[in-house]
Amino acid sequence: MVYYVKRGKMPELRHTYTDKDDLLREELFGFDAFDSEYSLLYHLYDPAELETIQKEPKKLPGRIDETRHRHIKTGKFEKYSDFVYGRKVLFFNDRLSIGIIKPEDNSDYYFRNAICDELFFVHYGSGEVLSPFGRNTYKKGDYIYIPRGTTYKINIKEESYFLFITSFDHIKIPEKYLNKYGQIREGMPYYDRDFGIPEFMEPEKDGKFDYTVKVNYKNCYMNIKRDYPMFDVAGWDGYLYPFTLNVNKMAPIVGKLHMPPPVHETFESKMFMVGTFLPRPFDFDERAIPVPYYHNNIDSDELIFYSSGNFMSRKGIEEGSITLHVHGMIHGPQPGLLEKSLGSKGTDEVAIMVETYEKLYVTNTMLNNEEKDYPLSWKD
Ligand SMILES: [Fe+2]
Repeated sequence: MVYYVKRGKMPELRHTYTDKDDLLREELFGFDAFDSEYSLLYHLYDPAELETIQKEPKKLPGRIDETRHRHIKTGKFEKYSDFVYGRKVLFFNDRLSIGIIKPEDNSDYYFRNAICDELFFVHYGSGEVLSPFGRNTYKKGDYIYIPRGTTYKINIKEESYFLFITSFDHIKIPEKYLNKYGQIREGMPYYDRDFGIPEFMEPEKDGKFDYTVKVNYKNCYMNIKRDYPMFDVAGWDGYLYPFTLNVNKMAPIVGKLHMPPPVHETFESKMFMVGTFLPRPFDFDERAIPVPYYHNNIDSDELIFYSSGNFMSRKGIEEGSITLHVHGMIHGPQPGLLEKSLGSKGTDEVAIMVETYEKLYVTNTMLNNEEKDYPLSWKD
C-alpha cells in the first residue's frame, strides 16, 4: 500500500454510472481477491476485449546447486534485446528471481507479469513507464515498483541499466514503517511524499489500434492481440499503482556504533527484504569500527548490488558488481580492510541489498561470467 490517489473522471459512487449513453467500464485491480489493496479504473472501452490469444514457450534457467560466496561484474554485459527478453536472470529460488537488464531497444508490445510483483533499481539511465494509470518517469537511483497484473511498457530515453527483482510474494513497504492509519511513521528512511506516482494521461479515444499484450506466466507467455486502445482510462482511484522512489530522497539511519542491515530496509516481502546502503557518516563513537563486523547469516543469503561510490568493506568490487554471501559460511571484511577502515568518517556508497530467507541458486549465465576466485578472497 502507498496512499490514496485519485486522477481523472469517474462516477460519484463506485459501481454506478453517470451517463448511460456514455458508459464507463469499471475494472477492479486488486490483491487477495477483493480483500486487500486495490484501485478502480474507469475505461472508455471494454478492458477484457481481445482478438486472438496465443501461447509462446519460454526458456527457463537451469538450477545450479553449489553453495559458495560469489561475485559477478555485471558491467561486462552488453546491451541486449528489450525490457522483457533482455532480462538476464543470475540468481533465483522458488519465490524470486534477481538479475540485470540493459535493453538495446524499446519493445513494440506491452507486458504484463501475471505471477510476480516487479521491482527495478535504475543503476543509470532515464525514461518512462506507461501504464493505464499514466506515466511514471524514471531516472538514475530510482526504484520502480510495478504491481503484478499491471499492463505496461518501458520507453527508454537514455541508455538504461536496471537491477531487477521479480517476486511471487507481494513486495511492500515494511509494516514497521507504517502507523495504524497506513501513513509512514516519523523517523523512517523515507516518507509518503517521496514516492513518484503516475502522472495522469488523457485517454485515447479514436484511431486504429493493433497491438499485443505479452502476459508472463511461470512456464510460458500468452500473447493477447487487441484492437481497443491501451490508454483509454478516463479516471482511476485507489491505493495500488506503479510508483518510483529515488534513493537520493532517502535519509539513512546512523548511530554511535555500527548499525545493522535492518535499519537500511526499504521494502519487505514474505521471503526476502530489500535494503539500501546510502551515503552517510560512519558511527560516531571515537573507537567505533566502521566496516561491518563478521557475520554468519545462519538462515539467509545476502546479495548486494554495488551501484556507486567507494565500497570500503569489499576487495575487487566495482560499480555493477553483485556479490552473494551464503548461509552457512561466515563473511566480513577481507584481510586488511578492518584495520584500514579505522578512523574513516563516512562513505559515499549506494548499494542495494536483497536478503533472502531461502537459499538462492545461480544460473548458467552467472556461472559462466562470475569471478571464480572470490570465495578465496578471505585467504590470509
Ligand atoms: Fe554481509
